[in-house]
Amino acid sequence: MVVDNSQGEDQPLYEMVYVSLAEHAMAEAELRDLLCRAREANERHGITGLLVYHERAFLQLIEGERESVRRLFSAIERDPRHEHVDLIWEGPVRRRSFQHWSMGFVVPDGKDLRGLPGFEPDDAPSLSTVPRGEPGRRVLMTLRDQLLSKGVSQPG
Ligand SMILES: Cc1cc2nc3c(=O)[nH]c(=O)nc-3n(C[C@H](O)[C@H](O)[C@H](O)COP(=O)(O)O)c2cc1C
Repeated sequence: MVVDNSQGEDQPLYEMVYVSLAEHAMAEAELRDLLCRAREANERHGITGLLVYHERAFLQLIEGERESVRRLFSAIERDPRHEHVDLIWEGPVRRRSFQHWSMGFVVPDGKDLRGLPGFEPDDAPSLSTVPRGEPGRRVLMTLRDQLLSKGVSQPG
């Protein structure tokens, strides 16, 4: 498949979205450490994306060159800091959604999640309930749009 990379990337772009459950409730310092290392490594490997943490649930989108993304996902899958790693969407993309974020980070207020696509109105506001497939991605896109509308360059 020929991918039109309108942002001058020389490799086809690929993205993966997964949900998982933290092995324990993460302390702020643990999250900061994880994020700091991830951003450094991501910059080296041309990975961008968004990580959401809510009530022990992670939801993450990683994007970049296909092999780099797949390699990172294999490492993430083996990481003992979380379990039940469940890939909900993967595929080629024409352009990056999080071009300027070596890893954006969101800890949403549960109340705000009810308005996001992918959630039924009466759903418990837990990211572990994100259904399979596209809805997980739509939740992330909506979070991105909300952050962008606040003028955030790289949150967290
Ligand atoms: C929820 C979660 C998200 C992570 N996201 C990233 C990431 O975006 N980039 C990254 O390099 N490592 C990330 N990591 C860390 C990787 O799992 C792994 O520790 C790191 O890639 C080093 O892997 P290695 O020891 O196999 O080299 C994440 C870990 C967790 C638990």
